[in-house]
Amino acid sequence: MTRRVYLDHNASTPVHPDVVAEMLPYFGERFGNPSSVHGFGREARAGVDLARERIARFMKVPADEVVFTSGGTESDNMALKGLAFARGKGHLITSRIEHHAVLRAAQWLETQGFTVTYVGVDEHGMVDPDEVKRAIRPDTIGISIMHANSEAGTIQPVAAIGALARERGIPFHVDAVQTFGKLDFDVNACGIDLLSFSAHKIYGPKGVAGFWIRKGIKVQAVQHGGEHERRRRAGTENVPAIVGFGKAVEIRGRDMKAEHERLTGLRDRLWEGIRARVPDVRLNGHPTERLPGTANLSYRGVESESIVLGLDLKGIGVSAGSACTAGSVEPSYVLVAMGLPLDWAMGAVRHSLGRSTTVEDIDYVIESVEPIVRKLRAAMPVGAA
Ligand SMILES: Cc1ncc(COP(=O)(O)O)c(C=O)c1O
Repeated sequence: MTRRVYLDHNASTPVHPDVVAEMLPYFGERFGNPSSVHGFGREARAGVDLARERIARFMKVPADEVVFTSGGTESDNMALKGLAFARGKGHLITSRIEHHAVLRAAQWLETQGFTVTYVGVDEHGMVDPDEVKRAIRPDTIGISIMHANSEAGTIQPVAAIGALARERGIPFHVDAVQTFGKLDFDVNACGIDLLSFSAHKIYGPKGVAGFWIRKGIKVQAVQHGGEHERRRRAGTENVPAIVGFGKAVEIRGRDMKAEHERLTGLRDRLWEGIRARVPDVRLNGHPTERLPGTANLSYRGVESESIVLGLDLKGIGVSAGSACTAGSVEPSYVLVAMGLPLDWAMGAVRHSLGRSTTVEDIDYVIESVEPIVRKLRAAMPVGAA
């Protein structure tokens, strides 16, 4: 049987067995609607309440500031549209390397009369807080900068940007979908007012996420209906998923630090191993300020899709560009924003490691990639690289 190695944890993660166990009763005997006043409803409500408390404890924030949503995408939409429509008009600042959930929400807001500045990044994929500072205007109503990019993994200087935002009283949203439960950070110390985070990146189920809103920050609801989530997000709660999310966060609180060190070691082993065997390869993203499990490598002159398919035949799952845009032959907009030349950007492959990744897995990937790249290069027309 072909060995199977999953190195696409930034796209999604397998649900932790303890999370599955915690969810199961909520598909069965605890099926009630948490808004119902009877015992069946109260059981479901208790599950939702516990999840909210676990997340709030992990974040060191009051539980009533945490809202459950259907995904990081919805949380990001709530942040941008919620901030914009609570004020009616004004200017937003974000970056060119945000997830599409932020970028496309911002672009849509431009069609509704709001103005947006998209700050750039340096060659490591990092936003310069001074550029954010220069972009601030008297009518700036919000700043949204992601904590870490899913492709390059570069960790942004959110504390410096948060300090700027706080000085000027501008609400600061951070898309922490790729860092929540992976990096130890404090929303208060970083001056963050709104945070998006998602369950399926941290061994929780898909289709459930969190949106944290600091008390006093005005955000217009995007979805209207019943009284759920203190009228901030209408709709019957996805109880089993929320319960699983709470458990996943509790587990991360326990495992995060040790996992950070282990994954950093494996990530560096992968890069060192490949660089020693394959010529014309580079590491994209910041050399040190990078997600512990993320290694985005570019093979010059080779199409990344071909490498992904070659590795797939060996049972290895990696991604070319971000998962959300996989299948497209366009170079990644993130790598283009970082100024990567086209012949490098087209050959970018993201490896994202997780809790099941072993040293043997990494060594297998290193061994597998070298002949694939060699054959692809040999098949190319002379001078094409
Ligand atoms: C930085 C970032 N924001 C938002 C999202 C969207 O989250 P979800 O898949 O939960 O909608 C992702 C997913 O890859 C992401 O990486």
